[in-house]
Amino acid sequence: MQKYSFFVNNSIYNNSFTRFNALKMQVFHKVSELSVFQQELQKKGHSLGFVATMGALHEGHLTLLRRANQENEASIVSIFVNPTQFNNPEDLEKYPRRTDEDLALLEAEGATAVFMPSVEEMYGENVQSEDIDLIGLDKGMEGEFRPGHFDGVATVVKRLFEMIKPQKAYFGNKDFQQVLVVQHVAKVFQLPVEVIGCDTARYSSGLAMSSRNFRLSPQGMEEAAIIYREMSWAAKNYQDYNPSGLRAAIRQHFAASNLELEYIEFADARSMRIVEDWSQHQEVRTFIAAFCEGVRLIDNTKLFP
Ligand code: PAJ
Repeated sequence: MQKYSFFVNNSIYNNSFTRFNALKMQVFHKVSELSVFQQELQKKGHSLGFVATMGALHEGHLTLLRRANQENEASIVSIFVNPTQFNNPEDLEKYPRRTDEDLALLEAEGATAVFMPSVEEMYGENVQSEDIDLIGLDKGMEGEFRPGHFDGVATVVKRLFEMIKPQKAYFGNKDFQQVLVVQHVAKVFQLPVEVIGCDTARYSSGLAMSSRNFRLSPQGMEEAAIIYREMSWAAKNYQDYNPSGLRAAIRQHFAASNLELEYIEFADARSMRIVEDWSQHQEVRTFIAAFCEGVRLIDNTKLFP
């Protein structure tokens, strides 16, 4: 097997690592292949930053990889379309798969390694979620509308952490509820990994970058920008409404658009409890799921403070 190797310049000025000449990215399919890579890193005292993905990579994923590269000497990206987190078989089947493009993007961005396991490698014969108590973080929003989704996420991320053994793992706040679920999993299983939530990468229209956007027409991409516009409107105007009034106003705005709103919720940024009274919460986020041209899009932003 090819050994990983690259040069690192640890700058005292910005306290970050700059990498030069990353040699050819390594691609692993099996857990057993990871151990030589891990031993090399350990020997050199190099830290490993991890980005978990389901492929169909876009700029949003790459922002996570860039951060992993800045804060660690080595980075690894997983590409695995995880069947247990899809409650809808059609959604799983239609999920975009673009392996060649993905590998080219990761290589160009200087990923040290990629882990692309098969379903069998991750689950063996038993393609099922583990029973993990997610202390209510999984109850609202995505948990409510995609039953079992977070059990699948928790199961696969726990296994990926155990297999890859990263020191730091980077997740997008685009899936804010997922970040809290993953942080909880790392904590209860005492996995020695720091789970870092990263800013959402957006187009200039405000639309969050997403693999699902690959299925939208140019017109759909424009229309979908209503999601971010409405969340921004909510943040400006929430003080004039109570939570249910604000939800109703946003539902009305969506009714006049081509998007079909699935949910609009305001939830506590720590517990994910649905907010019924602004004054009971210190940090609240707006969460939206909506269908555009039959494609389900989700997003969230800070409502206050
Ligand atoms: P996926 O949707 O491929 O996303 C992989 C990572 O990229 C997640 O942490 C997600 O929040 C982040 N991401 C997606 N769009 C982003 C954007 N516009 N800006 C910043 N980050 C963004 O989320 C999953 O896969 C899966 O649930 C996974 C964690 C891999 C478990 O199967």
